Parts: sequence; C-alpha cells; structure tokens
Amino acid sequence: MTSKFPTDFLWGASISAHQTEGAYLADGKGLSVQDTRPRDNNEIADFTVAVDHYHRYKEDIALLAELGIKVFRFSIAWSRIYPEGRGSVNQKGLDHYSAVIDELLKQGIQPFITLNHFDLPQALEDQGGWTNRSTVEAFEIYAKTLFNAYGDRVTHWLTINEPNIMLLVDRKILGKTIPLPEKYQQFHHLMIAEKLAFKHCHELIPNGKIGPVPNISLVYAATSKPEDNQAALYFNSVRNWAYLDFACFGRYNTVFQDYLNQNGVKIAVLPEDQALMASAFPDFIAMNFYTTVTVEQPAMDGDMTNGISDQQSEDIMERGFYKGFTNPYLKKNAFNWTIDPLGLKTTLQTLYDRYHLPILITENGLGAEDHLEENGAVHDPYRIDYLQQHIQQCLAAIDSGVELIGYSPWSAIDLISVHEGIKKRYGFIYVDRNDADEKEQKRVKKDSFYWYQKLIENGHWEG
Ligand code: BG6
Repeated sequence: MTSKFPTDFLWGASISAHQTEGAYLADGKGLSVQDTRPRDNNEIADFTVAVDHYHRYKEDIALLAELGIKVFRFSIAWSRIYPEGRGSVNQKGLDHYSAVIDELLKQGIQPFITLNHFDLPQALEDQGGWTNRSTVEAFEIYAKTLFNAYGDRVTHWLTINEPNIMLLVDRKILGKTIPLPEKYQQFHHLMIAEKLAFKHCHELIPNGKIGPVPNISLVYAATSKPEDNQAALYFNSVRNWAYLDFACFGRYNTVFQDYLNQNGVKIAVLPEDQALMASAFPDFIAMNFYTTVTVEQPAMDGDMTNGISDQQSEDIMERGFYKGFTNPYLKKNAFNWTIDPLGLKTTLQTLYDRYHLPILITENGLGAEDHLEENGAVHDPYRIDYLQQHIQQCLAAIDSGVELIGYSPWSAIDLISVHEGIKKRYGFIYVDRNDADEKEQKRVKKDSFYWYQKLIENGHWEG
C-alpha cells in the first residue's frame, strides 16, 4: 500500500468570494443574491464584512504560503466585474483579482479560480436569474472576460460551484424555493453555461484546463429492499449523475429524464444546445465532499420528515421518490452531518470508474465551533481527526487506481457558513470575530494549521 502522496500532489485550500471578502459595495461592486438573500435567522453574521479578505488578501496569502499550499481555490465575485451582471465592465473589480493572482504567484501558489460560487448578480436575478436564458449569455461574456484578463497567468479553472446543491437546497442557499419546472429549466441553463465555459477556456487559454465542481456524495439504500434500491437509484441520478453526465458525456441521464417526465417537467432546449453538449468537455472533475446520504422509498402517505440529517434534507423531504434515512452505521458532526471517510474512497472510485477523468477534491472539511484560548491558541483536534481520516482514504483511493491529483479542503481561513454564520468554522486560520461582533478580525493559526503544514511538507503525517 502507498504510504506517501506523490510529490506533485496538489495540496491546497479553498474559499469563496462572498463568504470571505466582505467589502460588499467597495470599488463599484454590484449587489449579488447573497447580499440580498432573505435569512431564517438574523442573528447570524451576513456577508457584508465577512472576514474582510478583500482588504486583507496579502496578509491571508502570506499565511497560506507559510502553510505551504501549492494551490489556492477561490472564486471571483461576478458583480465586482459586472456590477449589473452584464454591460459595462468594472475595471476596479478586474484590477483587484489581477492583484490577488499576482500576489499568489509571487508566493509560489497556483490560483484555481471558480467562475461563480452561489453569488449571481442581483440585477440578473431581477430579470429571472438562471430561469432566463439570457443569463447564460451574460455568463458567457463574463467567463470570456475572465479568461481574457487572467488567462496569461491562470491555467486552471472551475465552472459553477455545486449547481446540484444550489438547486436541491435552494431555500438554504438562495433564501427561496424554486418551483420544480423552473428549477430544472435552471439546471439546463446552468449546464449549458458550463459547457460554454469549457469551450471558451480551451479556445482562449493555451494549456487552459477546466472542470465542473459539483458536490458529490455516495447514496446508500437504507435496506436491501428492491424499493429502497430504486429510491437510491433516483436520488443518485437527481443529485449526482445528472450534472456530471451532462458535463462529461454530453447527455441527459436517463433515470433523471424519467424523474422529470414523471413530474411533468418539460425543458426548453435550443437547437444549438445539442451540438454544444456533444462537443465541449472538461479536463478534470473538481469534487466537493462532506457527507454521504442514505435514502429509502417513502410510504406515499407516510411521514416525510423522519431521519433527515444531511445537506440535502429539504429535497429529500419534498418528493415521493426518496426519503432521508438515518444511517445507523455513521456518526454525525455537531451540525448533524454524517461523517463517512470510507464513503469518500468509494465515491472517488465510483466517480473515476464512471468518467475516467483526473479528480481534484476542492472541498472537504469539518464545520465546528472553535474557541480562541486566552493564551492565543486554537485547539481543534476534532478537525485534525476528520481531515486525517479523509486524507487516509484519499491515499487508499490512489492506491486502488484512482487518478486523484489534489486535495484542497474547506476552508483556508474561517469564513461565514452558507446558512449558519461564523459560529460554524472550517478554517486552518481562525478569524477573531463572532456573529454579533465583527471585532478586529485578527488571524490566528489553529493547531490544524501546523498539522496540515507538516503533512504537506512530508507527504504523510507522523504517528
Ligand atoms: C459547500 C459550499 O456546499 O458547503 C460552501 O460550496 C459551503 O460554500 C460548504 O460553505 C459548507 O456548508 P455550510 O452550510 O456549513 O457553510
């Protein structure tokens, strides 16, 4: 068994724009749907200040260089580049990310850029958002602008973060529930936008490489009952394969298509879409992984809420095809997400076997309430334990033949959780603020920072 990672393994760390940058109106930025999103709980931090990464990016990048990462995955805020989503470009926004890229390269860190991470410009949302086909055209122009502006320095790109989770748990991420027919019209537009990004990246950037970035999680059947197996088949298709089959095979997954038919969903497809679907493909798959999901077939008149504990909970509740089930073999974290390191190995093997593309893990990590001690330390052994168990399974996956090229966990630095404020932290670097008080946001290295630093240096952990 391999005990060390390859020397060219891409150790990294990840963030997104709206969860870290703050400065939500600085230098001509327009509002995004994350700035305007209705929230269930007004007592948690919003994204207006976040952790002020917009102003402190040099300090943060210096810390990341000390951590030793080779790649930094971050996203660009579309509404900094096009405040109205389209139209006039905001030069100050372009200049900002150009300076971030230069700083990373100066510190020997390769930028991996996500084109869009949950923060559609509000101006586009006002015109129908992803339901409106013209958002695809706006995205195409935005993506080309970035490829032209940064393609001389950035070779690796990620398209649209987790379109699958954005549509599955729309209320949590976008603050609204999208009606089913509209939701899957959005699916088509998001996937076509992604295909256009593949195409233009390859056309505009010599040696440019690009991949989709879904959240992929293994789906278990609750029992060996054939009905539960059917439930798992449908959920797997709707949650995972619909997205990657579109990106990598250029076609609609047939189980997903049946799900759409049975729900009476008809998708408007333009004549030019078929040619694009069949001609533009990714170079690698970027994958986010936190939990696994277990489902059973619901009794049609039964309680649809029992046993729900995952990122995908609301979707599992809302339809008759599958129902969430608490897996008795898995523990959960403090925020009720299952922890399944072996599930990561199985997911990687399944993905590689299905698509035969190199895989980069672009998110994986533990959300927890960390505490800054009076002596300035942050002890997070639970995070080290979580990461160690998952990284061990990455090694096992490589050993089993999976072409896993890198691991870029969530998150480089503490950030504002999608819907649980900053009390739920993920970073290697603690940011001293809480939900009620922005404080001065001093950066503090956690125990996991030193642990990860050593791992990167040695290619394996000691002990
Ligand atoms: C991923 C998202 O789905 O999950 C991140 O890409 C998010 O943006 C992460 O932060 C963890 O979720 P949460 O809800 O704990 O922030």
